[in-house]
Amino acid sequence: MGKEPFIVGNWKMNLTLEEGVEFAKSLRNNLHGKNKTISGICPPFIFLKDISRVLEGSNICVGAQNIHSEKNGAYTGEISALMVKEAGCTHVLIGHSERRHLFGEIDSFINAKIKTALSVNLKPIFCIGETLTEREEGRTEYVVKNQLKNGLLGIDNNYVEELVIAYEPVWAIGTGKTASPEQANEVHSFIRGFLTDGYGKDIANGVYIQYGGSVKPENTRELLAQPEIDGLLVGGASIKLEAFLKIIDAASIQ
Ligand code: 13P
Repeated sequence: MGKEPFIVGNWKMNLTLEEGVEFAKSLRNNLHGKNKTISGICPPFIFLKDISRVLEGSNICVGAQNIHSEKNGAYTGEISALMVKEAGCTHVLIGHSERRHLFGEIDSFINAKIKTALSVNLKPIFCIGETLTEREEGRTEYVVKNQLKNGLLGIDNNYVEELVIAYEPVWAIGTGKTASPEQANEVHSFIRGFLTDGYGKDIANGVYIQYGGSVKPENTRELLAQPEIDGLLVGGASIKLEAFLKIIDAASIQ
């Protein structure tokens, strides 16, 4: 799409605080002044403030892995959008398949979280994707369309442009099975088409659509060579400094 690729690492529930801070320092030192690729990391909540301090003033963004849909209140154990913003986040993952499948998050909750994030100027990385069964039953487009429709319900056009959408087929997450670049591009085109129909071509083209699922240095270039893949959401390979740097490097010479 002619955009600078946007590469984000989702650390999930990994690393210690010390390892995370060291990682962030090395990332910053390695990328300083030599890389135009926009990158980001989503560490666990408890690391956010320390890591944001390390990355302040760099071109590496910090995102949270989740927020609650309410702005405050009696929600024991939850973290609000404003709290992660205060900890230095510019982005937040919303609707990750692990949240949907392991913690029972449904579309209406995800929709409310997206609205809350946007209301405090936090950019959602809205995750969608089908399971293996859904793909095998030929329901990929149906599933993705419903996730998009329900997740974006009631969101103004000018806000939609702020979104990053991450297409992460559930069967490719943590399994070593990457969607082929063509398979991924096909769903990305479908997503772009959905956005074009609903919000017009300009907005649709402005939205970053990332691919996620077993991304590694070896498949980065071929994935990003696809016309509809604007970036990558990286899990396992984003907690290994060398692999993550190689991915960012491969992305920058796209
Ligand atoms: P893996 O890269 O480990 O497959 O994880 C992808 C993911 O879930 C990123 O959000």
